[in-house]
Amino acid sequence: MPDFLAADGFRRAAETIRAGGLVAVPTETVYGLAADATNAEACARIYAAKGRPRFNPLISHVADTEAARLHGLFDARALALADAFWPGPLTLVVPRRPGSPVCDLVTAGLDSIALRVPDSPVMQALSREAGCPLAAPSANRSGRISPTTAQAVDEDLGERVAVILDTGPTRVGVESTIVALLEDEARLLRPGGTAREDLERVLGAPLADPTARDTDTPAGPGMLKSHYAPRARVRLEARDIDPGEAFLGFGPVPEEIARKACAARTLSETYNVEEAAARLFSDLRTLDATGAASIAVAPVPKTGLGEAINDRLTRAAAERTGAGARAD
Ligand code: TXA
Ligand code: MG
Repeated sequence: MPDFLAADGFRRAAETIRAGGLVAVPTETVYGLAADATNAEACARIYAAKGRPRFNPLISHVADTEAARLHGLFDARALALADAFWPGPLTLVVPRRPGSPVCDLVTAGLDSIALRVPDSPVMQALSREAGCPLAAPSANRSGRISPTTAQAVDEDLGERVAVILDTGPTRVGVESTIVALLEDEARLLRPGGTAREDLERVLGAPLADPTARDTDTPAGPGMLKSHYAPRARVRLEARDIDPGEAFLGFGPVPEEIARKACAARTLSETYNVEEAAARLFSDLRTLDATGAASIAVAPVPKTGLGEAINDRLTRAAAERTGAGARAD
């Protein structure tokens, strides 16, 4: 069993990181499974613990923009986005700085690097205390739903991680938005906790879609169709309920559905997409744990954080194409 440490217990976590071990750390989005990004053996342990089938690139988490610039090349656009949204749920993919000590396993041998300054005092402190950038995917087994609580990490990875830092449920609830700044056009590789509309306002230009190259391995495993998968089947845009189904609503759950569903929850009573994002993964876990064969999910608007919610739901509902297709 791992130790659940209070947030101020990070010193022991820092020692674990320096020794090449794994620590589960809360960020504002989801809990991450962190290792020293400059230590290839430590990073290999991340893949082993998650059962991640391939070496897909990982995000390097640092304490501030200055630390990020040691590892990546920031143009004016990158600096504007960092200024506006860091610390926060935004990952920037920029050209890798030659000589950066981040290991090739983290960048999957690409000449770009994904960098993020999370709005998480614990993770910032851990990065500073351990003296290294932290490579961290979500702290779940490959193909499972990302954890938004320490309990969820423990259920998925308990025996495979030495330390879990517990600061309660995460605030944002969906992973960071990923923007690539490698060409003239900025590309949205993954919708997430920073809304597209806010990014486009700062860039003064629309974000382009990912190219086929971005969605091919190794650069875009997060884009694989079957991902964030509960055990139950997921049925989208549901306005009614079939026998034996659980229901995940947006807004108050209609009385008739509450009566017929074997379990029912709502992402937000008040149609608030931020609240819905924060609850999405834990509600999916809860409904999945009821053993229902299928989860019917009400329509969720596609604007603001709704874009990320719909992205994760679409992946949860996608045909399961076998273990090899599940990425992180
Ligand atoms: O909110 C988050 O981003 C969480 C927390 C823990 O920070 N992390 C997370 O990591 O979601 P992960 O490993 O589940 O997703 C990282 C994504 C992958 O889809 C990967 O393909 C992409 O980042 N990525 C990493 N480096 C890249 C690169 N150089 N080019 C393109 N995509 C990259
Ligand atoms: Mg993940």
